Amino acid sequence: MSLISARTSKVMASSELEAPAVEDVNRLVQAAILARDHAYAPHSHFYVGAAVLLHDGRIIGGCNVENASYSLTQCAERVAVTTSVASGYRSFRAVAIASVGGAMPCGACRQVLAEFGMDLYVYTIDVIDGEQQVRRLSELLPDAFSTSDIPSS
Ligand code: THU
Repeated sequence: MSLISARTSKVMASSELEAPAVEDVNRLVQAAILARDHAYAPHSHFYVGAAVLLHDGRIIGGCNVENASYSLTQCAERVAVTTSVASGYRSFRAVAIASVGGAMPCGACRQVLAEFGMDLYVYTIDVIDGEQQVRRLSELLPDAFSTSDIPSS
């Protein structure tokens, strides 16, 4: 079965639109929790792990990397995305973010994720009580700025 996206008229496999299978979500969440073990956060002590799920099932993790020059800090989500892209994988299906309290991605990370598609599933995990939440990136960043806003030359 295929579905037509009204916005792009692109023919999409229904699997691109549906949430990942529970087993994949569980693998993704575990990867984000494990990635958090590597967080370098000596300034905020707010440790974040993230992992991206690719359409081929591959999972790549990242953690926040802080710096004494605070603005140079890299968020976990962006580390996961850039590591994945640098490894040759950028067909993202979902991202999971693990932290105390289950924080949602910051605005900058939402924009970076948006570069690769608004259909992304975003899972957050509170590492204290295990509570999970799920959103679509399109909910978290409505009216996103994108390449279509840049007039072509
Ligand atoms: N942080 C993330 O890793 N992801 C976010 O989406 C929000 C914030 C990190 C950055 C910094 O190391 C710490 O959390 C406190 O802001």
